[in-house]
Amino acid sequence: MPGPQSTEKSLDRVIVRCGLCSRTQARLAIAQGRVEVDGVVVTEPDTWIDEVRARVRFDGEPLAARPRATWMLHKPTGYVTARIDHRDRPTVCDLMPASIGWLAPVGRLDLETSGLLLFTNDGELARSVLDPESCLEKTYVVRCSGSLDDQDLALLRNGIDIGDGQGKTRPARAERLSDDGRECTTLLRIHEGRNRQVRRMVRALGHGVLALHRSHIGPLSLTGLEVGTSRALTDAEVAALRAAAGASTRSPAP
Ligand code: URA
Repeated sequence: MPGPQSTEKSLDRVIVRCGLCSRTQARLAIAQGRVEVDGVVVTEPDTWIDEVRARVRFDGEPLAARPRATWMLHKPTGYVTARIDHRDRPTVCDLMPASIGWLAPVGRLDLETSGLLLFTNDGELARSVLDPESCLEKTYVVRCSGSLDDQDLALLRNGIDIGDGQGKTRPARAERLSDDGRECTTLLRIHEGRNRQVRRMVRALGHGVLALHRSHIGPLSLTGLEVGTSRALTDAEVAALRAAAGASTRSPAP
């Protein structure tokens, strides 16, 4: 296998790095005989090629890197974070303009969670946003049944076993916003992204989640964005996100 400085990469990866489609889609297209390397159809996705020198054509067109694009969506509840849902439910991709081409959701929000969801074709940025080591905070507003007392908030802050076999959650910030004894609203800031993490943290305290909304990812907020609509991030927002996530500020590679 080539070393880290080598320009040799597997064919599927070369296509993904151009921001053209997902890895699964790239592998399928290669297997379907839609990709040529130096004039020869290659059907094995793991074929190593020289990313710089090889002339790759996809559906007959020369492979060219697409400009990097990152968008935010104000996800409503009731939408699946997936490209296609095998149960035919509406997906977050249905809400994105078709004209922007292939962008992948960065992580996921549950069907019944609303809020800020990023889409990008910049693989490096996506990895940084999702990396728990990057310490990028995701802020959630969570409405729960009953009251969360000071001890509950301390458990949320210090870490709690959510029963996923990965040990206690990492330190988080938790702030009580309201509590009328029957239900309460808490602001929870975490930088991990375990499966259904917030719901499991609250359930581990013996409470039910009535509503969950992600209001921020690092410096990004949904301010001014209607539910169900999306927009491209500005260059300044992408730079701020990169800085907060510890992503490279050099020209990004997917
Ligand atoms: N935590 C959850 O439990 N659900 C989400 O959708 C996001 C974070």
